[in-house]
Amino acid sequence: MVIIIIIYGVVVINPICHGTSDIKKKMKFTLEKEEIIVSSDSTTTTKADSVIQCTTLCTSEQECETASYDHTTGQCRLDSNSNPQTKTIKTGILVFKNHEPTDCSKMPNGSINGVYKIFVNNVNRYLDVYCDMTAGGWTVIQRRQDGSVDFYRDWLDYKKGFGNVSGEYWLGNDNIFNILNGKSYSLRFDLERSSGQRSYAQYEIFKIADESEDYNLTLAGYSGTAGDANWNRFAQLSGQLFSTKDRDNDNWDGGKCATTSKAGWWYAKEVLSRYDCTYVNPNGMYVDGNLEEIVYWHPWTNSFEILKSVTMKIKYF
Ligand SMILES: *[C@@H]1O[C@H](CO)[C@@H](O)[C@H](O)[C@H]1NC(C)=O
Ligand SMILES: *[C@@H]1O[C@H](CO)[C@@H](O)[C@H](O)[C@H]1NC(C)=O
Ligand SMILES: *[C@@H]1O[C@H](CO)[C@@H](O)[C@H](O)[C@H]1NC(C)=O
Repeated sequence: MVIIIIIYGVVVINPICHGTSDIKKKMKFTLEKEEIIVSSDSTTTTKADSVIQCTTLCTSEQECETASYDHTTGQCRLDSNSNPQTKTIKTGILVFKNHEPTDCSKMPNGSINGVYKIFVNNVNRYLDVYCDMTAGGWTVIQRRQDGSVDFYRDWLDYKKGFGNVSGEYWLGNDNIFNILNGKSYSLRFDLERSSGQRSYAQYEIFKIADESEDYNLTLAGYSGTAGDANWNRFAQLSGQLFSTKDRDNDNWDGGKCATTSKAGWWYAKEVLSRYDCTYVNPNGMYVDGNLEEIVYWHPWTNSFEILKSVTMKIKYF
């Protein structure tokens, strides 16, 4: 009898205790003991080697809200119901997925504009981001206001993100991809001229592909006052690949748009005019340089004029 208890203690209890702290730390689950899910239409039953493996399965499935694990049978149940029927079993563990805010629209009502942590499900980690809490909470992915941050950077910087979430920044192409998580968000550009005049361009459909497809952009469903970045059939922003000074995806044999426009962006060389890499250059420079190097939105100003500020923000509708 004594021997059995010891074996049980070493082999079974210890891994679970260890597992508990791991789950709390990394996966953001709430844990209940001695319960398992009663199978229903919303349940998938499978086998797992451990409670960690079972919760990992739940993490990787968007619809999974709860999971239970029976450590004597190895039975792992995943359920899309956040409050499924359960039964008491001494060897059972039940976990509830916590709903961490995955973008700024999930922040509590009454939250004010500022820097918040969001939880990026795809990669299971937190990310600081500026939330514009007007109109239900927009997640800011880019901000320019004073030229204090250098945006003429390489592929890796644009991939990972740079700058300062309280000031100017690029959130990072991988972070943007992971927040979108396969869904289409709305993208809004807020623009301001040095005169103080403001405008915006909003797109109902905003998606990017992952790095293996060079963050191929989908942008459609324009509304606003700034003019459409896709306005000219020769200057379609949608469908372009991301380019930086060290990674040229712009289709231009004669040079590099990222170099002539001094930024990372979805550039394309499609027309035979002088300023033809893009009609909008939100990541451009804040200097009085060559026209196409600056921060501009040609469809609005009808010229290459340095804008005072630009913000790019996304929201899931
Ligand atoms: C937040 O506000 C919305 C709209 O006013 C309301 O429908 C919702 O119930 C509120 N949520 C909370 C948690 O108070
Ligand atoms: C970030 O930007 C804010 C606003 O411009 C500024 O006050 C702050 O000093 C910056 N922080 C860093 C670390 O650069
Ligand atoms: C981007 O993706 C779209 C849709 O899949 C495709 O039609 C287009 O050719 C891609 N763009 C490039 C430059 O490969």
